[in-house]
Order: sequence, then structure tokens, then C-alpha cells
Amino acid sequence: MTAGSTELAHETADAAPGDTELTRPAPAAVEVRDVHKWYGTHRVLNGVDLTVRPGEVTVILGPSGSGKSTLLRVINHLEKPEIGHVSVNGELIGVRRHGDRLKELNERTILAQRSRIGFVFQNFNLFPHLTVLDNVAAAPVATGRLGGEQARELARELLDRVGLADKADAYPRQLSGGQQQRVAIARALALRPGVILFDEPTSALDPE
Ligand SMILES: Nc1ncnc2c1ncn2[C@@H]1O[C@H](COP(=O)(O)OP(=O)(O)O)[C@@H](O)[C@H]1O
Ligand SMILES: [Mg+2]
Repeated sequence: MTAGSTELAHETADAAPGDTELTRPAPAAVEVRDVHKWYGTHRVLNGVDLTVRPGEVTVILGPSGSGKSTLLRVINHLEKPEIGHVSVNGELIGVRRHGDRLKELNERTILAQRSRIGFVFQNFNLFPHLTVLDNVAAAPVATGRLGGEQARELARELLDRVGLADKADAYPRQLSGGQQQRVAIARALALRPGVILFDEPTSALDPE
């Protein structure tokens, strides 16, 4: 991804509260600094900078193969950048400062960071052996945030929000692509992440 091949479109919601001359602005929701990523000799990300403020929606547009998914995967450290770094809500992701170098964090810490960054994958990655309800309830239980009953209650609320209350007991294979995508969105919301990354968010949805 290089300048010119991909566009970043910003839409600002309300200004961050407290963001006045007299107070320090909140840290960026997502800060990408000079990120380079290559696979072998294939350079995919070539010095990407991106700032997303709290409350902003940023759309990344570009042709197939231009590195959009790679950039999202770098943001939650599913891919390590060769150069550069990423912060989410002021916290470095996947690394910590060690003098003037960056050192990789341990996997457990990275998993905890990832639980604060929602990710709706292009192919949804739902658990095929779990019902829709359990797909949404699983992560809050696995991360120890909620007990099983509370998590299922939250999952019912979220499924209602995405219009799938009646599919709670279905399995992913019984749903259409758009319905699976809405389950994936509900699942991302269940951890109440500070940031959500959507890869091709409307690929399977009706326009409305
Ligand atoms: N794990 C990988 N190993 C090697 N090449 C990869 C890998 N992931 C992506 N690529 C290559 O990186 C480029 C960007 O891919 P991707 O980020 O998926 O593009 P987009 O999402 O914009 O369609 C493509 O040329 C793709 O083939
Ligand atoms: Mg992609």
C-alpha cells in the first residue's frame, strides 16, 4: 500500500469530550506510524501513517491485493510490521519500548491487548460447532469478564441489536452470509472493545 493506490476517508463524529485548548486531547484511538510490512521480497505496506481519533470512522479503500487486510492485521498484531509501530488508545500494540528499541511482548499480553480490539474478519471465522448465541457469548466467558449466564444475556441483547434474536439457537452453517456477518459483529461487540476493525464490512450485507 503506497500513497496514491489507496485512499483513507475520514468521517468525524462528535469531537472527543474534553478536547479543548486547556486540556490534553485524548490519545488517538488508532495510531499507525511508518509501518512497513513485507512478505519475502514483496513489499505490501510501505510507510503507512494513519491516525484515527476517538469517535471517528475511517474507511480504507483500495484495489484487491493493495494491503488493506494486512494493515488491519498489523493493527492488532496478527502480523508483525518489519518497521514502524501501532498504538491503540495510547498503548503500543505487540511491543514495548526497551531503551530506543521495541521488544515483542509475550503472547499472553498480546492476547489481552487483542481482546480490547474487535475484529470482524472478512470470512467471519465463526465457530462452526457453537450456536449463534454461544459464538457471541464465548469470548466474555473465556476472558473471565462475565459468567456464563451474564454472557448469554449480553449475547441475546446484542443479537437483538443486529436483528438476529430469532437465530440464537441456530448454527453458523444454517445462516446466510449476511446473517453470519451480523453474528460476527455482535461477537466483536461482546467484548466492548475500544476499537473495532472491520475487514470488508459490508461484503455480505444488504445496503441498508
Ligand atoms: N501471509 C502472506 N504471505 C505472503 N503474502 C501475503 C500474505 N498475506 C497477504 N499477502 C500478499 O500481500 C498483498 C496484500 O494482501 P491483502 O492485505 O490481503 O490485500 P487486500 O486486503 O487489500 O486485498 C497481496 O499481494 C497478498 O498476496
Ligand atoms: Mg482484504
